[in-house]
Amino acid sequence: MLRLVFLVGFMGAGKSSVGRALARQLGWKFEDLDERIVSREQRPVEQIFRDSGESEFRRAEHSALRAVLSEPDAGGRIVALGGGAFVQAENAALLAQASAMTVFLDAPVEVLFRRCLQEQQVERPLRKSEEEFRKLYLARRPHYSKAALRVETGDLDVDAVAGQVARALGLQVSD
Ligand code: S3P
Repeated sequence: MLRLVFLVGFMGAGKSSVGRALARQLGWKFEDLDERIVSREQRPVEQIFRDSGESEFRRAEHSALRAVLSEPDAGGRIVALGGGAFVQAENAALLAQASAMTVFLDAPVEVLFRRCLQEQQVERPLRKSEEEFRKLYLARRPHYSKAALRVETGDLDVDAVAGQVARALGLQVSD
């Protein structure tokens, strides 16, 4: 029975907001992998990037993902991965090994960039110019496409998208 679902996709795809709404609809727990990293490292994501570099962030990310996969999921859990997590071969391999369910949330890159600009409270070290953002998105897209399912979030109404994901997964939402 399906008890653990990972949301993947680029920055601004709505992984955390849709994940929260989906967990609420299903009566499951929600977890944001970046939050687990921050709490394990005791410093914000941008500080890890700034002081220790991206490679250290990726190491912490991989270790946090391993920890998530080692925990029981009796009640069901939706996990939002950071935008680069599923792109790392060792993470994709770990998820494949665990036969984890993965859902790619996607939207046109202009929409993703606009959403990131609007979310000023979220510091994203890899959101640079629009051109670099687009380049990184195009380079990563083939990786995200390896997820089991893909759901479009372009006209993001968070609850509606969450409902769509639940239906795509064949999961019953509670009223
Ligand atoms: C990253 C995306 C961020 C966060 C970190 C790196 C990326 O998560 O994990 O800044 O490599 O795309 P969000 O996708 O939630 O912004």
